[in-house]
Amino acid sequence: MKVGIDQIGYFTPNKYVDMVDLAHARNQDPNKFLIGIGQKKMSVADPTQDAVSMGINATLRYIDKIDQSKVGLLIFGTESSVDQSKSGSLFVKSALKLDPAVRAFEVKEACFGLTAGLMIAQDFVRLHPDQTAIVIGSDIARYGINTAGEVTQGAGSVSLLVSSNPRILELNEGHSAYSEDINDFWRPNYSKTAKVDGKYSTQVYLDFFKHTFSDYKRQKGLETKDFAAIAYHLPFTKMGLKANRLAIEGVDEETNARLMDSFTASKELNANVGNIYTGSLYLSLLSLLENGGLKAGDLIGLFSYGSGAMAEFYSANVVEGYENELDKAADEALLDKRRKLSVPEYEKIFSASLVDPQNNVELTSDEKKGRYYFAGICDDIRQYRVK
Ligand code: CAA
Repeated sequence: MKVGIDQIGYFTPNKYVDMVDLAHARNQDPNKFLIGIGQKKMSVADPTQDAVSMGINATLRYIDKIDQSKVGLLIFGTESSVDQSKSGSLFVKSALKLDPAVRAFEVKEACFGLTAGLMIAQDFVRLHPDQTAIVIGSDIARYGINTAGEVTQGAGSVSLLVSSNPRILELNEGHSAYSEDINDFWRPNYSKTAKVDGKYSTQVYLDFFKHTFSDYKRQKGLETKDFAAIAYHLPFTKMGLKANRLAIEGVDEETNARLMDSFTASKELNANVGNIYTGSLYLSLLSLLENGGLKAGDLIGLFSYGSGAMAEFYSANVVEGYENELDKAADEALLDKRRKLSVPEYEKIFSASLVDPQNNVELTSDEKKGRYYFAGICDDIRQYRVK
């Protein structure tokens, strides 16, 4: 039985900073950010968008296309959690009016959270082929104003529907996983911004990629040339480019050109949204599916990495007619309709977002009609409303 990704929905908030403006404000050469880091724009979440509201908005992108009565599992992967106890899944389940029988919980392992959820969902659907699973990754990447990591911030969510007989991607059984207890990136409970050893995290990411990619190929008897494309976790697009260069070392010219072209197709959305932590690999996958000219049966490799650190390489095959399940125009419109912030405006919003709203103060949102937002805290309970 085939199990895989049947629907993909993404959401990013309605404001952004242009990397050229940010470079000028930080006295940097714009080409460092555009080429050296590989980012063009970054989405900015104001205090009314959080991991939960973005996760609801991402899932709303496809909810009307699916049979909601079949959803048996709802997993929320995040490292921007809104509560130490209650999972983000329950807020999402309530907003989407899903059945109380749905099993709902949250998972965490840095940017690996959505992949962890996807692997659990895949096993669940193999055991319960009549049911489906929603898996959400939703995050706001915050390093801080005027830090080295500032250029690698962003905000957004990706929601996947996992089912039997999927309409977009069939997941192949098996994977190569690798983990080590290290400190490359982390966010203590007392901090709203991440702690990071950026150069070290890049090195570990590349080491884990080399290890899992070669181990996966060995396990499956595959060669690099068998992949039509490889999608990477992209905290910033230069990171994936470095991994892709490792992947294509020593391959024939045709494979080299194909994997470079598919990498270019896979980074377009990420270069304009920024880092969305758990959702980054799947935003890149969406970008690849929309821009990569893939055909039915093509083999795609997927590399997931979460700091701390945990990595996994796995693969999937493209399903005939996958393009009919995507909405490239609407996905691009989400980016094009964002409002450009000046750097001082972004700094003000960023600082405001570091402070929790006071109890019983209602927040208003300038998001579009039909979108969910965080409306503040009432008697210590988070309130989510739709415009
Ligand atoms: N034109 C073109 N390129 C230029 C340039 C110019 N004018 N000036 C500099 N560059 C290039 C540099 O040569 C360098 O390229 P290489 O990486 O190929 O050597 C690149 O721009 C960056 O320059 P620096 O290394 O000098 O940049 P920096 O010291 O400011 O830091 C960074 C860059 C380490 C990526 C920093 O932004 C950072 O720490 N980011 C956050 C770390 C991160 O995202 N890590 C990812 C793994 S963690 C993760 O994914 C999160 C998770 O699990 C939760």
